[in-house]
Amino acid sequence: MSVQKPVRRLTAPQIAKRKGGDPIVSLTSYHAHTAAIVDNYADFILVGDSLGMVMHGMESTVGVTLDLMIMHGKAVVRGTKKALVVVDMPFGTYEESPSEAFRNAARVMKETQCGAVKLEGGVRMAETIRFLTERGIPVMAHIGLTPQSVHVMGGFKTQGRHEDDWDQHFEDASAVTEAGAFSVVLEGMVEPLAAQITREIPIPTIGIGASADCDGQILVLEDMLGLNPAPPKFVKVYGNLGGQIEAAVKAYSDEVKDRKFPAEDQVYR
Ligand code: KIV
Repeated sequence: MSVQKPVRRLTAPQIAKRKGGDPIVSLTSYHAHTAAIVDNYADFILVGDSLGMVMHGMESTVGVTLDLMIMHGKAVVRGTKKALVVVDMPFGTYEESPSEAFRNAARVMKETQCGAVKLEGGVRMAETIRFLTERGIPVMAHIGLTPQSVHVMGGFKTQGRHEDDWDQHFEDASAVTEAGAFSVVLEGMVEPLAAQITREIPIPTIGIGASADCDGQILVLEDMLGLNPAPPKFVKVYGNLGGQIEAAVKAYSDEVKDRKFPAEDQVYR
């Protein structure tokens, strides 16, 4: 009898080693069944706090709670075997102090069994990133357009349009690198800025609206599947799930009204 080796999940250090190598593939996922499909193709799966908008109809990610992240994080870990699962730390659960961040991030790791957490912020979060990584929590950083700061930024604005602002973004990128982040998401950033950051830092950059020059790419699954009627410019829509769901629901509704469903095959005799 041959004993099958268990499939090993990718780890944060393995993702870190992919700097400058084959592009890193990533998508968000919020529930077990979609995550199981994504698991066949992605290096890491992000349980992003965009789930507040995508799954729960919120206007921004600001209202997302730790309990919500943990609930979806558990579902994604249960549904997957291979990809590294990264869970977002939601607004208000890590900014106050490194020890608050550790307490909440440790809860996320324990309860979901994910392999890393992600948090937004550059220079201002460096001390916290160091505190977490030194205590055993791998951290993915997130700079550029940081949706949790939407009220300070005055909207979801592309970053780096003025070269005067670039220094701040370089400082953010090197601060999170020096603090020990294993990779960094660059969101909503002009191409030459994202390209230069990618060239200059030794950890992988994961782009979302930040050009093909990044070391990897991430999209929100529902956006690329065609479930968002007004996706951002940077999204390429690969499917028409919205249209398919509409057609299926209409067909069902018509058949129920016409007494065609359930038919012979669906009835217990
Ligand atoms: O929450 C999310 O989906 C994210 C991605 C945009 C990177 O943080």
